[in-house]
Amino acid sequence: MSARLHNKTAIITGAGSGIGSAIARLFAREGASVALFDLDASASEILAAELKQYGQQCIACTADVTQPDQVQSAVLQVQKTFGRIDILINCAGVNVFSDPLVLKEEDWQRCMETNLKGPYNLIRSVLPDMLARQYGNIVNVASVHGHRIIPGAFPYPVAKHGLIGLTRSLGVEYAAQGIRINSISPGLIMTPAAEAWLASCPDPQAERERQAALLPCKRIGEPDEVAYTALFLASDEARFINASDILIDGGRSQMYHE
Ligand code: NAI
Repeated sequence: MSARLHNKTAIITGAGSGIGSAIARLFAREGASVALFDLDASASEILAAELKQYGQQCIACTADVTQPDQVQSAVLQVQKTFGRIDILINCAGVNVFSDPLVLKEEDWQRCMETNLKGPYNLIRSVLPDMLARQYGNIVNVASVHGHRIIPGAFPYPVAKHGLIGLTRSLGVEYAAQGIRINSISPGLIMTPAAEAWLASCPDPQAERERQAALLPCKRIGEPDEVAYTALFLASDEARFINASDILIDGGRSQMYHE
């Protein structure tokens, strides 16, 4: 078995479901000790028990990424348990799709707080230790919505464009001090969140087929395909890649029209 993250420690937010769970599984298989952050304590605890089979430390922390105090105390718990934090994966996120004129104030807030301020809360909490050691790799999970606009999805793309901006800005800010900050931008990936969105469509099966047909590769992406990109960026193999974004969308966002 390869161990591309041998002796590394990682925090993964949103680890209780979908892409975050896939990243946590892959990182544990590749030799990392992992801390699973999520709102949903039961899902991350079940996953933590499963991941201990790989022989590394694994802890589940209940933390709402929108709450700086909760984030700070969970990060302190990880520092005490693992001794240090090498990698942060900001994966927790929510879909908020609305007509701009009927969007409720609280939904704008939830979208920005979770998808944009949340990653910043995590980065602020882990950076002091990373800077002290002059080492840290951060990967933010953005979206194709951070590159292209799909009508009807407001204000999610605003937050994801912001997250790519945060990545570039902080990536440059700390580059000389051994910190790399990159983002990844998945297209449609089959996760519980994507399943829930499909289920809300008038004809879920027809929408699933329509979505697959829109992609040059004619299929929807899998969480593991995102996890492998996160693994590469979080590993020292990517040591000259910083303040960048990698699209994982089967080529869809490069098309003009058919
Ligand atoms: P998911 O809904 O399956 O998993 C998200 C996890 O984040 C859940 O376990 C949830 O409890 C957790 N979470 C939500 N709000 C949180 C908060 N405030 N604090 C802590 N944890 C919180 O979603 P999925 O599909 O796996 O998405 C993961 C990330 O990937 C998100 O950032 C999403 O925007 C992004 N993404 C997903 C795509 C897709 O097609 N599935 C496409 C592009 C981006």
